[in-house]
Amino acid sequence: MSGNEIEISGLGKVFGQGASAFRALSDINLTIGTGEFFTLLGPSGCGKTTLLRTIAGFEAPSSGSLRINGEEVAAKGPNARPVNTVFQNYALFPHMSVAQNIGFGLKMLGKPKSEIDATVAEMLRLVRMEAMKDRKPSEISGGQQQRVALARALAPRPRVLLLDEPLSALDLKLRKEMQSELKRLQSETGITFVFVTHDQEEALTMSDRIAVMSAGRILQLGTPHEIYHAPADRFVADFIGDTNFLTVPVAASDGQAATVTLPGGTQAAARLPEGMIPVTGQEVTAVVRPEQATLMPAGQGEMQATVGTSTFFGTDTHIHLTLSDGQGFILRRQNATDMASPEPGQTVGIGLGAGTLRILKD
Ligand SMILES: Nc1ncnc2c1ncn2[C@@H]1O[C@H](COP(=O)(O)OP(=O)(O)OP(=O)(O)O)[C@@H](O)[C@H]1O
Ligand SMILES: [Mg+2]
Repeated sequence: MSGNEIEISGLGKVFGQGASAFRALSDINLTIGTGEFFTLLGPSGCGKTTLLRTIAGFEAPSSGSLRINGEEVAAKGPNARPVNTVFQNYALFPHMSVAQNIGFGLKMLGKPKSEIDATVAEMLRLVRMEAMKDRKPSEISGGQQQRVALARALAPRPRVLLLDEPLSALDLKLRKEMQSELKRLQSETGITFVFVTHDQEEALTMSDRIAVMSAGRILQLGTPHEIYHAPADRFVADFIGDTNFLTVPVAASDGQAATVTLPGGTQAAARLPEGMIPVTGQEVTAVVRPEQATLMPAGQGEMQATVGTSTFFGTDTHIHLTLSDGQGFILRRQNATDMASPEPGQTVGIGLGAGTLRILKD
């Protein structure tokens, strides 16, 4: 990675005017490095496509600045930007064959036929569509169309590739394959990828960094590790992975760390978010990931609980528990062949290793 490919500051987008005005993006600030795999992640309607279309030049921002490769482009059209897009509704040219679709951008750039043919062949191989190169879009499946759209956008080797949920029409196996193909391709070409998904697992496995969005804002910007292990707030903690939220009183706090009183009375250290200084007695929300808690015999561990239902997922089992004060808690235990699930109604202990409890900002 070297230098900044995309710099966005104070960017906002309002659709419509007057009473029907709708603010789709608010105060977006982010820098994407050259060669970075950057993901916009968030629920439906949070503004991912709007932000991507603004970077591409299909929407003009209502405020703020947008620089690509050091150049202010907010007033420039899509064709004047070193960017290519794979849209959420990847409309292929219906009258052209698969191969012609893929070669279209190169033809527009006036590339020689030999170069176009070689690139198209490489792209067909990449997306595993060699056998269907002469078919029309109406003669291939939705997932195959999505792969052709991807190949068409990659063929001219843009500096930046914007991808709006490009794998959503693929089945799970092909999706996994295309995820690693995309990663390989991205690291081989050095093209900066801005990838949109609402699938948190896809974001965690593929990205160098993720921006978690909600209601037109970026709530957290960080590596997959940071987003998962140090969520900035309740929304991020809830959206990324499964989380237990515990309402607990603060027993002591020195501004760096806090001790909380867990259900049942045991005191435990909990990490504090930056800038939060709770007072003794204040109720806070502490989070624990289900895989960070361990099942123990009754009487051991930091908390006691009654077993509810257990759900078997193959590699692991999710055990639903009720803590001594009535709060729910889910524990995820990795399975071994000889492991029996605990009996409903049984009392068990919950062990929390050092550093697993984290207090959330209100
Ligand atoms: N042209 C438009 N005019 C008015 N509102 C719009 C327009 N385009 C998008 N919006 C609104 O802006 C918000 C963000 O839309 P956007 O398409 O960016 O969401 P998204 O995060 O991509 O969602 P999804 O995951 O469903 O694709 C939505 O509430 C949407 O209704
Ligand atoms: Mg969208």
